[in-house]
Amino acid sequence: MHVKVRGRLKHFRTVEFDLRRHEVRLIEQRLLPHEFRVIGTRDFRATARAIRDMVVRGAGAIGATAAYGLAQGALAFRGHNLSRFVAHMNRVFETLRDARPTAVDPLNAMLGVRYAMQAGTTVAAQQALALTAAMEFADDDVAQCRAIGEAGMPLIREGLRVLTHCNAGWLAFVDIGSATAPLYAAHQQGRAFHVYCDETRPRSQGATLTAWELAQQGISHQVIADNAAGLLFARGGIDLVIVGSDRTLGRTGEVANKIGTYTKAVLANRHGVPFYVAIPLSTLDWNLRGGEEIPIEERADSEVLGAWGRSKSGRREYVRVANPSSSAYNPGFDVTPPDLITGIITPAGIFRPQELWQQRRLLGHPDGQPNHSMGTIRSAFLTTAAL
Ligand code: MRU
Repeated sequence: MHVKVRGRLKHFRTVEFDLRRHEVRLIEQRLLPHEFRVIGTRDFRATARAIRDMVVRGAGAIGATAAYGLAQGALAFRGHNLSRFVAHMNRVFETLRDARPTAVDPLNAMLGVRYAMQAGTTVAAQQALALTAAMEFADDDVAQCRAIGEAGMPLIREGLRVLTHCNAGWLAFVDIGSATAPLYAAHQQGRAFHVYCDETRPRSQGATLTAWELAQQGISHQVIADNAAGLLFARGGIDLVIVGSDRTLGRTGEVANKIGTYTKAVLANRHGVPFYVAIPLSTLDWNLRGGEEIPIEERADSEVLGAWGRSKSGRREYVRVANPSSSAYNPGFDVTPPDLITGIITPAGIFRPQELWQQRRLLGHPDGQPNHSMGTIRSAFLTTAAL
């Protein structure tokens, strides 16, 4: 996406790899919308910390970051001993995997990289294959988001009022985004519509990131408090909901996404408003048998008890809001059941959540023969199934 930096429009990806320095280059999302800065992580541990501390966040973006982090870890190994290299790679894999638990994209991305590495018979060959596979994952993520845009664009009619939750935009991927992809595609066609961005407490990704993205693209939008959606639905002010997902179960059609997504799905259902979820294939989990098996990340209670912002002096500051002696419970994600979801927008088209399993051949399940070029992801599913 293009971002105006010091008055000039420049193209950025959320996640990139510096081939000379072996650094993962990341947009520092905690500083947005007040400051645009790109930072570099020098080794796989720093890359894992950047995922955990949410310098980079959003399922697709942490997927690509983990893939690059794995390649970065591989390239840092010195020596020719393959069994030592394998032990080292297991440590790298576990460190990156454990950074955030709910999104399945990092796992699928890293399994894809590891699968590709198996073709190499020397340490040097596996190192080179790891980097190529990580780059392929990132490029594939962009291609899939573009395809999601094409599949979902017909839903975005002139004059539509759309609600979205959290940030499933280009900052949550390598580029373009999932929930925002149909919006960006429709905007490019000259269609006018309005987007309500749920503020998305506690970390406010809607107010800070989605609103910033939409402003950069010149799309009409307003931030609403999370609690305002009910009134808007009840008064007929929302025509369509689109959100992203951190893990969508291929067997059941259940969708894990940012906490508060389920609440919006219930409201949409109550008021007969279509509720769509947009995902690349790397967000599909073909293994878990039910939503109760999805690991739900619990984050620090300080996120709920206060808020980060920019003070008048220009400093990024945390202010305590809640009663000083109270603690908080802070689950990061919830699970929306399939009967509340109108459709899943994928790069291969829109499906009812109950159809995912039936359509698994098209959607990259290991038994299937996907008919679009998503090699890395296909390999990832193969390896996941083998676990
Ligand atoms: O905690 P975050 O900011 O990583 O959560 C992000 C979301 O919940 C997005 O909606 C989700 O990743 C889907 S879009 C990639």
